[in-house]
Amino acid sequence: MTIKRIGVMTGGGDCPGLNPVIRAVVLAAKTRGWEVMGIEDATHGLIDLDYRSPRGNRLLEEADVAEILQDGGTILGTSNKSDPWNYVVERDGQETTIDVSARVVENYHKLGLDALISVGGDGSMKIAKKLSNLGLRIVGVPKTIDQDVAATDTTFGFMTAVRCVTDALDRLHDTAESHGRVMLVEVMGRNAGHIALHAALAGDAHICLLPEIPYRVDSIVKKISRRRVGGRPYSIAVVAEGARPQGGEVDIEHKLGEMPKFFGAAQRVAVSLEPHLELDVRVTILGYLQRGGSPVPFDRILGTRYGVAAVEAVETGKFGQMVSLSNQEITTVPIEDAIAQQRLVDPQGQLVHAARSVGICFGDD
Ligand code: F6P
Repeated sequence: MTIKRIGVMTGGGDCPGLNPVIRAVVLAAKTRGWEVMGIEDATHGLIDLDYRSPRGNRLLEEADVAEILQDGGTILGTSNKSDPWNYVVERDGQETTIDVSARVVENYHKLGLDALISVGGDGSMKIAKKLSNLGLRIVGVPKTIDQDVAATDTTFGFMTAVRCVTDALDRLHDTAESHGRVMLVEVMGRNAGHIALHAALAGDAHICLLPEIPYRVDSIVKKISRRRVGGRPYSIAVVAEGARPQGGEVDIEHKLGEMPKFFGAAQRVAVSLEPHLELDVRVTILGYLQRGGSPVPFDRILGTRYGVAAVEAVETGKFGQMVSLSNQEITTVPIEDAIAQQRLVDPQGQLVHAARSVGICFGDD
């Protein structure tokens, strides 16, 4: 098969490591004599070829990817509102969704693409799979700070996010101890508690509340009280945004054409704890800070490896596949394996065991 031009796009929430992937794709493709078309803002650039926000689709040269290895974000832009099957438009003053998938297929051909590398999380991989079913030659690259994409050991962006939360916990230790307060730190992850669990371990948290282990308030109160009696009148709790009380649910906001948004998990814990404690309780929501910043070396290296592997997958015709990390080795897996299920924290797994063994309370004992 002769390849002349490939496309590359980034979809879903941004995360540190996207630029290293784009750079590696361009550099590896150029050594093969291929052209690389950067598609702007995920499928927006394929839905509308005149789309400019601000630059539009463009051919990428080596110079375009020089000095971006260390940059967070994505030079191509991204979007979490770009599902061609649920594309939001305004009709009669009201928002509604329409199916523009046929336009994506048509524009892929108009751009002269021989293949498309789609970098994204579970939402983007679902779109990639559907486009692949329509005949587009697609290779997926998994990304997310949430670490919830299945069929790969890890995704880039995750370690940078854990680093961000760990830094925050280090700072909060100082002020929590000075004031003798309970600090609740809410972190991202949707239904997966990987960021919370890793950061709790790295950041010396005393309590860690995960979506996978519903909590009881009395268990958290007991832990804080034990620490107080033991001469430590402060506690740090990491609360995953998807954490829920036993028998309770998470608050979720639904917006047309977007992924559901989790909110209020730490505030809910604070309100439940306050009547049972004499200590002040304070909430810090780290939010989008976790998605920004320069990628840590692990994420730069993984992004580079994924980008190179994606180009090799195009070269060898592995379409409908996603590059993946398995036991330190890069491989490819069918995209459907990645979207079949979410990768969640195993409550019986080694990390939870290690955390319990060093005294971290999950609110369930
Ligand atoms: O990238 C995944 C994620 O970071 C989730 O953890 C979070 O809930 C979500 O993105 C929020 O992003 P947005 O508001 O951009 O949809």
